[in-house]
Amino acid sequence: MQIKSATFVASSDKLSQCPPGNKPEFAFIGRSNVGKSSLINMLVSQKGLAKTSSTPGKTQLINHFIINEWWFLVDLPGYGFAKVSRTEREKWKKRLDDYLLNRENLYCVFVLVDCRVEPQSNDLEMINWLGEHQIAMSILFTKSDKIKPRELDSIVEKWKETLLTSWDELPPIFTTSAEKIGGREEVLDFIEKYLK
Ligand code: GTP
Ligand code: MG
Repeated sequence: MQIKSATFVASSDKLSQCPPGNKPEFAFIGRSNVGKSSLINMLVSQKGLAKTSSTPGKTQLINHFIINEWWFLVDLPGYGFAKVSRTEREKWKKRLDDYLLNRENLYCVFVLVDCRVEPQSNDLEMINWLGEHQIAMSILFTKSDKIKPRELDSIVEKWKETLLTSWDELPPIFTTSAEKIGGREEVLDFIEKYLK
């Protein structure tokens, strides 16, 4: 799929403030610093569209970007960020859950996982929670440029084994690199199939 335009629309701190839910929407979630904002920029080939940082906790709001003038990509705040107070974290968790459960035009959630780490409990909790609520998801491994292909395969295998202990079927899985532009066509083709 060709990306002809990608433009920032709004930053919202909760579902009720989001732009009208009348367009197909794909959201990116995952631990802080996993590379959500970088991946969005890579997919749309615009370096500074979503704000990125080497310090975790950069994205704090629900950010909507409109793509090709008819569908949304959404950059979400990361979870598992240790420096945020517990009350703040709980408040955010509620808002995120509300968005994920009630955003009626949400077609699919991309759960981003750092390809260098074996299954982590907060990622598994998120994946299991989405599965229990029957929210369509896909798992994207990020930063694949940071490890050797063989190590990548073994971590992905480990993830599959872990997921199959709870689920009969695996969600679609892609490996990506924002740095080396890996997985771009695959993810965009996947989105295109949904849009059709
Ligand atoms: P929060 O907004 O804090 O939740 O983080 P995020 O998930 O949006 O991560 P972000 O895109 O800001 O990237 C975090 C750091 O990882 C930055 O320093 C990026 O340059 C780096 N990074 C992201 N993707 C990749 C990648 O594919 N390869 C490499 N080598 N670095 C990456
Ligand atoms: Mg971010």
